[in-house]
Amino acid sequence: MSMTKGILLAGGSGTRLHPMTLATSKQMLPIYDKPMIYYPLTVLMLAGIRDILVISTPEDLPQFRRLLGDGGGLGVRFTYAEQPRPEGLAQAFHIGRDWIAGEPCALALGDNLIFGDHLSVLLQRAVSRPAGATVFAYQVRDPERYGVVSMDASGRALDIVEKPAAPRSNWAVIGLYFYDARVSDWAARVRPSARGELEITDLNRLYLEEAALNVECVGRGFAWLDAGTPDSLLQAATFVQTIQSRQGMLVGCPEEVAYRMGWIDADRLAHHARALGKTELGRVLAELAGSQQV
Ligand code: DAU
Repeated sequence: MSMTKGILLAGGSGTRLHPMTLATSKQMLPIYDKPMIYYPLTVLMLAGIRDILVISTPEDLPQFRRLLGDGGGLGVRFTYAEQPRPEGLAQAFHIGRDWIAGEPCALALGDNLIFGDHLSVLLQRAVSRPAGATVFAYQVRDPERYGVVSMDASGRALDIVEKPAAPRSNWAVIGLYFYDARVSDWAARVRPSARGELEITDLNRLYLEEAALNVECVGRGFAWLDAGTPDSLLQAATFVQTIQSRQGMLVGCPEEVAYRMGWIDADRLAHHARALGKTELGRVLAELAGSQQV
């Protein structure tokens, strides 16, 4: 079992989704048939990560506890921590410092959806790197909205910049990061940016300066969506619906991933399927568990 831990960051105020997020967390909103947080959660699970710290605002954290519980039913362990104010993604490593306890740790943003063939191979390769950090880069039309990495001809990172006005490449950095055991110490060296946040890009730059930043470029067979606006929320939902109804495969289903990873048995999966009642999700899980329930 991998020793890497994982943080799911699900805070922030979600102002671009008001009024939908006035009374609930953005990462709790549905993407088609599941809460948004299920998608990055399953990505961490596919990386083999079973020890997961969920970070959210003091107001929203109880909802996540209610949804996810202690993780026992999935063969994982959830721990919860508050981020009182959205002071930057790298703050997750300050909040999680004691919990991380000097182990390697990944960070997944609660609003990022990543899907593609052989994703688990890429993830497990990132987890198994003994030292350094791994980020994933994806070509987009509007790189100025993201962290942007530029690389030389051999794929070595040259620089990484947060929301550059004049991007040097169109490779955006996905909201999923893998760090070695030095991460807490290095995160402590990050200072607030001009916008007052502890930027994940500045942490990544520390790794880059030590020639310890690996960039995995993910190709055209992959989908990466962030659900930050009503339009992207709808696009993400349509994407999940299309894959699920066309291929009969699930996207972002933690019960399925736990079963496929061998962390829960068919009985437990059938139990989850029954709890989902007459939903399509419940039907697919029941079929997977080989149970007779329809
Ligand atoms: O989606 C990938 C991008 O995520 C990267 O390319 C950027 O380098 C990275 O900085 C980040 O950019 P965003 O502008 O999307 O970050 P945003 O402030 O929107 O935060 C991303 C999510 O994390 C959002 O759902 C809210 C949550 N969040 C944000 C902050 C700043 C927290 O939970 N706590 C925080 O302190």
